[in-house]
Amino acid sequence: MLNAEKLENLIHAKYPEAYVRVFDTVDSTNTRAKDTEDFSFGIICARSQTAGRGRLGRSFYSPEGTGLYMSLILPITPKEAFEFSLTAAAAVAGARAIERLCGISAGIKWINDLYINGKKVAGILTEGQPNRVIVGIGINVSTQVFPPELKQAGSLGKTADLSELAAAVALELFDMVFGKSRGFMPEYRRRSILLGKEILYLKGGTEHRAKAVDIDAMGRLVVQDALGAETALDSGEVRVIME
Ligand code: BTN
Repeated sequence: MLNAEKLENLIHAKYPEAYVRVFDTVDSTNTRAKDTEDFSFGIICARSQTAGRGRLGRSFYSPEGTGLYMSLILPITPKEAFEFSLTAAAAVAGARAIERLCGISAGIKWINDLYINGKKVAGILTEGQPNRVIVGIGINVSTQVFPPELKQAGSLGKTADLSELAAAVALELFDMVFGKSRGFMPEYRRRSILLGKEILYLKGGTEHRAKAVDIDAMGRLVVQDALGAETALDSGEVRVIME
């Protein structure tokens, strides 16, 4: 069970000025963070969400007690977040925290999903406001049964302490952002589960097949078509078609 006092102590030990709030249930911690404008730095968590949101208008399944649903509020502009590759940083922060607390190595599926054994165990939804950026992170920790349409979903399969996991992810990301170091990029590439694979991606309404060959300094996925021409993708979804 996510313990508010423990989370607050862990966060405040390093960042005493951070706003820390734990709800039993909310529609979406990202929505709650966006609607609560009286602070610009902190963390909002919930033990469950009734309308957890994902990228591309999808929902994020958020049952009580078996997952971590958190939003980190950062005092930076969307432009600064983009230049920092904040979403990539959050993916690395999540992977590091999972590895440290659960002993499992998570891969990153560009842009921002964490995968273990071919299953998506975590997702990230970054949303900007004029002077703040909200990074929503959902981690399926011990959820066993998912709605049938979530064919890719899986969980860590560990009984991690949710307060410690939340604090570990948050502190990793806060340190990266306030340290202003993009030193996480090599690790982002190293954890990529796409590099070297044949993939399908959508561009201009058409599906293209290519090989994922690199993630550039801006966090874009560089793909190469059969003729060797390279394209850098900066958003969207890709699907692996060949291991
Ligand atoms: C995705 O998989 O596309 C991103 C999922 C992000 C889910 C997290 S859970 C906490 C925060 N609140 C939300 O409504 N979404 C994010």
